[in-house]
Amino acid sequence: MGMPQILESTPRIRPTPAPATNSIGAFLFDVDGVLADTARLHEAAWRRLAIREGLSLDTDTARSLRGLSRSDSLRRVLGQRRVTQHRFNELMEQKNCDYLRQVEQLTPTDVLPGSSELLEELPGFGIRVAAVSASCNARPVLDRLGLLDRFAAVVDGTDDVSTTGHRFLSASAVLRVEPSRCVVVEDSTTGAAAARQFGMKCLGLGDATALCMATMVFESLRGVDARSLLRWLTRTPH
Ligand code: G6P
Ligand code: MG
Repeated sequence: MGMPQILESTPRIRPTPAPATNSIGAFLFDVDGVLADTARLHEAAWRRLAIREGLSLDTDTARSLRGLSRSDSLRRVLGQRRVTQHRFNELMEQKNCDYLRQVEQLTPTDVLPGSSELLEELPGFGIRVAAVSASCNARPVLDRLGLLDRFAAVVDGTDDVSTTGHRFLSASAVLRVEPSRCVVVEDSTTGAAAARQFGMKCLGLGDATALCMATMVFESLRGVDARSLLRWLTRTPH
């Protein structure tokens, strides 16, 4: 028998696979409502302020405050009520002091189920992690939860970045992972929309209707392992 014919198209050397540019390189975790149930603490502090001020705050409006800045939240709480700039600042300060008193009570046991495990597993898959929040209190919250040193970057409301989307972009730049390879983990409609607007995938946590912009939605991170999550996210197109 002669030598097997080598077909023209048969590569003799296996080509080096192209770099996996579409692979996931970073997770950007929102803080309030994702790592801890602090969205509930924000909401409760706004409710107490509304009661003190004799304002009515219905459940839908209270829910819609998730992901909004402190000033945008107060505008929504005030509704038609007009106040001076001085009073507006006083009210923001009151709400913040109230909220910070609740933050002081947080401990590592308040980390939401599944988040800690995921933060621990992801680096093993070569994934970089950042915390991204509109809150000026994100660092104290992460500190109380014992999570501060888990993140390669923290971009929050104290940084000179004006919108949620720009905070995501800033985190992607700090981590040196292009936006298309970033996954944002978010519980708010605003956050999910901003992530998609800037070409990032979004893992929504909570109500599927409110998070219809997200790439996929889970009720929570409980029981979600990094390997399966990465497989699902990689297979789901942008
Ligand atoms: C996050 C929360 C919002 C909060 C905002 C500002 O985005 O989801 O509810 O209003 O941060 O937080 P801060 O702690 O600075 O008032
Ligand atoms: Mg949130």
